[in-house]
Amino acid sequence: MKNAPQIDDWNGATGARWVDNQERLDRILAPYGDAALAAAAAKPGEAVLDIGCGAGVTTLALAASVQPGGLIVGVDISEPLVVRARERAAAAALPIDFRLEDASRAALPAAAFDLLFSRFGVMFFDAPTEAFRHMRAALKPGGRLAFICWRSAAENDWAKLPIAALRGIVPIPESNPEAPGPYAFGNRARLQGILEDAGFIDIEIQPFDAPLIYGIGADREAALDDALDYMTQIGPVPRLLADKPADMREKAMAAVRAALESRLGDDGVVIDGAAWVVTGRNP
Ligand SMILES: C[S@@+](CC[C@H](N)C(=O)[O-])C[C@H]1O[C@@H](n2cnc3c(N)ncnc32)[C@H](O)[C@@H]1O
Repeated sequence: MKNAPQIDDWNGATGARWVDNQERLDRILAPYGDAALAAAAAKPGEAVLDIGCGAGVTTLALAASVQPGGLIVGVDISEPLVVRARERAAAAALPIDFRLEDASRAALPAAAFDLLFSRFGVMFFDAPTEAFRHMRAALKPGGRLAFICWRSAAENDWAKLPIAALRGIVPIPESNPEAPGPYAFGNRARLQGILEDAGFIDIEIQPFDAPLIYGIGADREAALDDALDYMTQIGPVPRLLADKPADMREKAMAAVRAALESRLGDDGVVIDGAAWVVTGRNP
């Protein structure tokens, strides 16, 4: 079945860690979400689909923007994250339809949405062109696409820094940069081709860089501990350390902590991130 490994992962360990770290993730990723929301420019009365909506922080923001009269649907394959998103929408008394479905083959209403939006939720498809073609069919004629995705691992310190620290301590498997996952759209020309082949027009792909505040605390040690705790749960580190023996993990944690210390400043542990803000239109 298409996207099966991602469906397993987002309903397993990764999904659980994203739920546990939801508040931290919302804080750390906020500048990226804000950039995507600004590019999307949702307006009152619009119908919006938030793809790979996760715990729903952007879905809630979009729901507020489209009131009065708007409609918002969030779609995600991760049951634990959709449960969290539904709880948050209920607490905020926002009428959001969260669907637990694979966006690349969900039965979406045809020509129904003004905007397809995503914050880091569209890089996980086995067949991205087909997926975007399927989702485009849910856009009204002239409807907009706006999303943010990571650039390559080599451009993202949050990926590069721990991998460099772990090299020689744990095995680092070779990875295909185009495989479904956070960096799948790092290659701008490939991303442009996928969107063109899926039928979008007026495609713009703009770099967006912003610091990620990985560790905060009352003092330097607390900020470092916070950053290390976060990095061992979100990003490449948990996968690289999974099932490793205790002595190897101990060495690995010391190496990652030392790497994080090199990014410790007055604002805590600050790591560079690099993304694309992508916009396009349905003909
Ligand atoms: C990096 S997280 C981003 C979550 C959320 N948008 C945010 O910014 O916090 C990626 C999300 O995409 C979801 N996802 C991955 N593949 C998907 C698919 N085929 N259909 C719908 N959601 C998917 C995951 O379950 C996960 O919630």
